Order: sequence, then C-alpha cells, then structure tokens
Amino acid sequence: MVVRLPENKFDLTNRVAVVTGGAGLLGVEHASALIEAGSIVYLADINENKCIEISKKLGKRCIPIYLDVSNEDNVKTVSRLIFKKNKKIDILINNASINPSFKQNKNKNFSRIENFQISTWNDEIAVGLTGSFLCSKYFGSIMALQNKGVILNIASDLSVIAPSQDLYAIKNVDDDKQPVKPITYSVIKTGLIGLTRYLASYWSKNNLRVNALSPGGVLDNQPKDFLKKISTKIPLGRMANKSEYREAVLFLCSDASSYMTGQNIIIDGGRSII
Ligand SMILES: NC(=O)c1ccc[n+]([C@@H]2O[C@H](COP(=O)([O-])OP(=O)(O)OC[C@H]3O[C@@H](n4cnc5c(N)ncnc54)[C@H](O)[C@@H]3O)[C@@H](O)[C@H]2O)c1
Repeated sequence: MVVRLPENKFDLTNRVAVVTGGAGLLGVEHASALIEAGSIVYLADINENKCIEISKKLGKRCIPIYLDVSNEDNVKTVSRLIFKKNKKIDILINNASINPSFKQNKNKNFSRIENFQISTWNDEIAVGLTGSFLCSKYFGSIMALQNKGVILNIASDLSVIAPSQDLYAIKNVDDDKQPVKPITYSVIKTGLIGLTRYLASYWSKNNLRVNALSPGGVLDNQPKDFLKKISTKIPLGRMANKSEYREAVLFLCSDASSYMTGQNIIIDGGRSII
C-alpha cells in the first residue's frame, strides 16, 4: 500500500503575488505572510521608497514596485510588466486605501456629511473602490486567461456594520462639529463585498477565486481614551495586533481555501456580533 503524505495546501512556493498598498501597516504583514509560505511578492504602492526599504527587510522574494491603483494606465502597465517577467500572476491582494481624514477648521468638521467635500469623496473612492476594480480588471483578466488565480479584497468590519460614531467624539465639542468616521469608508468597504461576489461569480468558470477579508481595528498607537472606548465594543476586549490576520490571508490566498469563493471572512474580535 502506498501511503501518501498529505500535501501542504498552504504552500505558496513559486507563486507570484501582488499586494497593493504594500507599504502600509497591514500590507507588510500580508506580504511577509505570503513570502514566508514561499511566494514571490510584488510590494506595490505609491510610496515606492517605503516599498524599497521594506523589501530590504523581507528579502529578495519581495520586489518593490510603484503602483497607483487609481491610475488605469499605470495599473495596465504594471500588470503587463509583472506578467512578462514571471509568465503568470497567481495572487492579487487589493489592500490599498487612503486613510480617511477628520479635517477640521474653526467652524466645521469636514468628516461630517453636511461638510463632506466631493473632492474627498472622489479621492477616497478612486483608491479604495475604483482602485480595487482596476487591479481586478487587469490582474484578474490575466488570471482568468491562465485559468487559475486568487483575488483577496481587504474590506473591514465596517463592511457589515455601521460605524459607532461615539468612538470619535471629543469632549466639549458641539454635536454638529463632532468628527465622525467618514461615509466614504463604509461605502468603499461595503462596495468591496459587492465587488467580491460579482467577480467570484463572473470568473468562477476560470478557476479564479475571489474572497474578502474584513479585519477589525488594528493597534497602532491610538490614544488611550480611544482604546478604552473601542474595547468596550469588542467582545474580546481589545483591538487586533497587526500580525493577527496573517494566517487568514495565507488561508484565503492558498489552495487551503480551494472550495471557497465569493465570501467575506470577518475577523474582528467579535465586534460585529453585538
Ligand atoms: N489598520 C486598520 O485598523 C484596518 C482595519 C480594517 C481594515 N483595514 C484595511 O486594511 C487595508 C490596509 O490598511 P492599513 O492600516 O495598512 O493602511 P495604511 O494607511 O497603513 O496603508 C495603506 C497604503 O496604501 C497606499 N496607497 C494609498 N493610495 C494608493 C494608491 N493610489 N495606489 C497604491 N497605494 C496607495 C498608502 O501609500 C499606504 O502605504 C486598508 O484597505 C484598510 O482600510 C485596516
């Protein structure tokens, strides 16, 4: 009798991955999780210098590359360049985003709907939502032709719940001047779930799987009072460490999730269940 050793479905040896927003807090974690499993990773970001710096730490399987996900010509060129070099592209992680701002002047807080500027709306949607569409269009079309590939959209717990605006409230400020989590964030993250389902169905015959990961908030030197407030809203009683999504990313990008497509995995310490 021949006993076969179980194959390691998490193994990514020789896979070629692209992580957008790769120079950011979570992008580096996604990239290093894939590299650790054997993948080559293109760390793609508008902050090319930071990508270069990070790739020196992550080793030679981490390749820094300038990519503006909101620029269609640039996305097209970069997708072709990576394909030409490697003859394939296996994994795309749509992770880039503009960190939403809470801009304020003496009379107004610009995060509030009543003052929200169309230019801010356009800029944020262009990266978080349109950028994910554009990268899916070009990188995904290559994967579809290969009849193999994985796209992972990084959403947020706010893809399934509304923001708790009291988290952002400042003492002794009138209600109509309080900062709020901008509407763009919810729209982008909820939109990404629609994009995930659409693409998963659209490319299902091409063996291209598309899923989403919805992380909860990550510890990143937030003020103490914010940490105290948000912890009461999370059943596990704390925000996430930045390394706590690595295994999920690996699962979703590898053959370990071979029967999964169109889904949204929520890892939020339980925030969205209460
Ligand atoms: N950090 C969190 O608490 C948290 C929680 C839930 C979801 N998320 C999501 O995870 C993803 C990563 O978050 P993060 O905390 O690492 O953010 P971050 O701000 O640290 O990183 C975002 C990266 O995107 C890059 N970027 C901005 N515009 C770009 C463009 N046009 N083209 C290419 N790159 C561009 C930035 O340069 C930056 O390096 C985001 O989609 C975010 O919404 C983060």
